[in-house]
Amino acid sequence: MTQEKWTAVDRYITDILVPPDPALDAALQASDAAGLPPHNVSPNQGKLLMLLALIHKAHNILEIGTLGGYSTIWLARALPTNGRLITLESDPKHAEVARHNITHAGLTNIVEVRVGKALDTLAKLATENCHPFDLIFIDADKPSNPEYFSWALKLSCKGSLIIADNVVRDGAVIEPDSVDPKVQGIRRFNEMLGSEPRVSATAIQTVGSKGYDGFAIALVTSDQ
Ligand code: SAH
Ligand code: DHB
Ligand code: MG
Repeated sequence: MTQEKWTAVDRYITDILVPPDPALDAALQASDAAGLPPHNVSPNQGKLLMLLALIHKAHNILEIGTLGGYSTIWLARALPTNGRLITLESDPKHAEVARHNITHAGLTNIVEVRVGKALDTLAKLATENCHPFDLIFIDADKPSNPEYFSWALKLSCKGSLIIADNVVRDGAVIEPDSVDPKVQGIRRFNEMLGSEPRVSATAIQTVGSKGYDGFAIALVTSDQ
């Protein structure tokens, strides 16, 4: 199996199941035009996030890692009009592109983009009374995933869903001696999911237009 085939099958799936959407398509175009890295979730992954948020009847979502707001828009689409999504981004240029895309998607009343290193903005968030979040999507710098998981737990309650992108990294995740700090961050994160008694978690390998990677999903099963 090749990347070419994975991309072709993703296109096939997307053609059938993910109809063109002006705001989402424009968000990808604007992100690309602004020179943002193509690290957004793929369209069929974005729709999976939206469906998970809908199944979960999420009202209050936290996203760590905004980029151009593509996954943000998918997740926010699952929210009721009184729902709320806070998304954290360290790069002011990414945040600016995201705000533009979110405005174009008509989601300014629901989505708030907070600029700063997520470890700082998470600490601030914990002092406010807007938490707990019922869905948290972790998709920023991978070396910090262990800390992001700890914060996600603090900002959760029983029943919250924690989802993380990029937990397989081309299979590099099984290399204990990897010198890649991203791989080590993901490994530590996966181990935390396994040893944390307050969550029930699994991870799924994925192939597609973004290569070979995976998602982890954890349900918070007890009160904090
Ligand atoms: N969730 C997005 C993709 C995010 S890419 C989508 O699927 O559409 C990862 C993002 O995390 C990048 O925009 C990067 O600038 C941001 N990031 C990296 N380090 C960060 C940090 N310490 N705090 C917050 N955001 C960070
Ligand atoms: C990278 C980050 C992502 O969130 C992603 O989905 C793909 C790649 C990266 O930093 O390389
Ligand atoms: Mg990602």
